[in-house]
Amino acid sequence: MQPLLNIAIAAARAAGHIIIRYINKVDSLSVDTKRRNDFVSDVDRMAEREIINVIRRAHPRHAILAEESGAHGDDDYRWIIDPLDGTTNFLHGFPHYAVSISLEHKHIPQLGVVYDPFKEELFTAFRGAGATLDSRRIRVSHSQGLSGALLGTGIPYRPDQNLDAYLATLKALLPDTAGVRRAGSAALDLAYVACGRLDGFWEFGLKPWDFAAGALLVQEAGGMVGDMLGGQDFVKTGNVLAANPKAFKEMVRALQPHLADVAKVNQSPA
Ligand code: 2AM
Ligand code: CA
Repeated sequence: MQPLLNIAIAAARAAGHIIIRYINKVDSLSVDTKRRNDFVSDVDRMAEREIINVIRRAHPRHAILAEESGAHGDDDYRWIIDPLDGTTNFLHGFPHYAVSISLEHKHIPQLGVVYDPFKEELFTAFRGAGATLDSRRIRVSHSQGLSGALLGTGIPYRPDQNLDAYLATLKALLPDTAGVRRAGSAALDLAYVACGRLDGFWEFGLKPWDFAAGALLVQEAGGMVGDMLGGQDFVKTGNVLAANPKAFKEMVRALQPHLADVAKVNQSPA
């Protein structure tokens, strides 16, 4: 498996070079809006092409699911790619975004790489073998629960999401914590949970490429990943809750009285 991880790392670094090359040239990029408030730039497309080329050179038969170009091929091995997670940050010169690449075999995640090309931080996870940041082993935090915890989240930005229902979940989780951050890259939020910079994270309506690598990072670092009720539906719903085991339990408990809101976030207000 190590050669597969090396391919993911090489692909992430190659994409990172492209992203950094354009850091001061954002004005020259062509930017499209996929949906309201959802942007894609030439950099996303170039970085994705590069990642796919690196993977294809080594494994032409593997299937691919990529944010910008969609699904290609049919194979037990499938790469899940987000070439630039945090495009809105990148386009604003807000230095917080990442390349996210993961590989699954028969739908079971095998490895994940999240690379922050600005801070040059490389997070990797390998099923059963732990998670690392720049080659050093990482673990989730030891926070005892929500008290004093630092949580990450994603505030809805799409018109099909119910902001009021989301705000109810924020209100349920915020009071006990030391604070909540909305940094704009779900892949990095999950990587930060894995290395203990955040104690927990929750966001609704994510896509597989946003969380596939990050979720394995959290699990391999000793954390828990689930849906908002602690179940395993997150792969289907994209509603992702991740935290160290104690914070996870407390977050699920705090959200329990808000089942109706949790069910409503991914639907626009009636
Ligand atoms: P993306 O940059 O790859 O699209 C966090 O809310 C997640 O939602 C990010 O991982 C980001 O992934 C996606 N997203 C898309 N548009 C966004 C926006 N306008 N604001 C914040 N996040 C956005
Ligand atoms: Ca993304």
